[in-house]
Amino acid sequence: MKILVTGGAGFIGSNFVRHIYRERPDWHITVFDALTYAGNLENIAGLDESRVAFIHANICDEAAIDAAVADCDAVIHFAAESHNDNSLHNPYPFIETNILGTFRILEAVRKYNKRLHHISTDEVYGDLELDDPAKFTPDTPYNPSSPYSSSKAASDLLVRAWVRSFGVQATLSNCSNNYGPYQHVEKVIPRQITNLLSGQKLKLYGSGQNVRDWIHTEDHSSGVLAILERGVMGETYLIGSDGEKSNLEVFKLILELMGKDESWLEHVNDRPGHDLRYAIDASKLRTELGWQPTYTDFREGLQATIDWYTQNQAWWQPQKDETEAKYKELGR
Ligand code: NAD
Ligand code: TYD
Repeated sequence: MKILVTGGAGFIGSNFVRHIYRERPDWHITVFDALTYAGNLENIAGLDESRVAFIHANICDEAAIDAAVADCDAVIHFAAESHNDNSLHNPYPFIETNILGTFRILEAVRKYNKRLHHISTDEVYGDLELDDPAKFTPDTPYNPSSPYSSSKAASDLLVRAWVRSFGVQATLSNCSNNYGPYQHVEKVIPRQITNLLSGQKLKLYGSGQNVRDWIHTEDHSSGVLAILERGVMGETYLIGSDGEKSNLEVFKLILELMGKDESWLEHVNDRPGHDLRYAIDASKLRTELGWQPTYTDFREGLQATIDWYTQNQAWWQPQKDETEAKYKELGR
């Protein structure tokens, strides 16, 4: 099996590459990545070059995608602009990469009749009330709020249209918020850990009542592998591990695990249009494909993540000042 992993030098893509490298030693992996600010070759360093190849190119580049898709058995499409705050600042790269880039991949897999798994987010469903008993299911209507989530929603709809109109062999997954090693310091958990490691306060948007459904990135990877191997063509699977927590709860746990009191917590301007709550019902993936998450102890996973950022300062230091300068401009 030869797989092409777009965005494989980013956070979730690189963790997926390492997961496959460990779990499927007879597979060959080609990482296809433009190395934007979010991509880093160190994320996939140390892997045997006879098993992992790298193509430095943009998914919007028709010829580059065409050649790479022709040379693989399956494409796992992670590449995206992925951060809501950036999309509120400058939406254009989200439209280009997430929509046009997905279109290029669809045209290539159609031409060469290759298997595609498209990675998406639960944010396409909009948000839930805090007391809503329902969670997102694959039948929840799309209702995205931000330029990021609407561009991901558009990409999902393109995939579904190519399945129906052209018989493209594709599956889709929509996952909840991931955490773990190699996540860029712009995202909430690494930002707070590295703030404390740099002697700065945690930055909580608004009151901190917003809820995210946390999953360890290893569980996301095992979910994607299950769908790749056993998923039904054309189907959408939701990936989540019942990890709902308010931001305030997460921030308090970071403070506790890093031995700091609440004077280290600062309330900053809220995000415009800030989604209130996300929650995933992953029963389809669990019952139909027999998938189960492994890293369900959030406290343990967060401690391991804090340890990783503490031990890998050289990895995140180069991103930190530029990221905080961007946040300063946004008043957050
Ligand atoms: P990331 O921003 O850490 O990584 C994105 C990667 O894609 C980077 O390596 C970047 O260089 C590459 N990339 C960006 N534009 C590209 C282009 N035009 N051509 C080629 N490569 C390009 O993102 P992430 O958090 O790892 O997210 C990966 C995927 O998972 C995305 O599709 C995202 O929507 C989805 N997702 C993320 C989360 C989350 O919690 N982070 C949750 C659910 C789904
Ligand atoms: P984020 O990691 O940006 O993921 P997403 O917007 O895709 O859910 O943010 C997660 C939550 O944390 C979201 O409710 C916004 C909030 N947040 C903060 O409170 N402080 C921060 O510094 C950041 C980056 C996010």
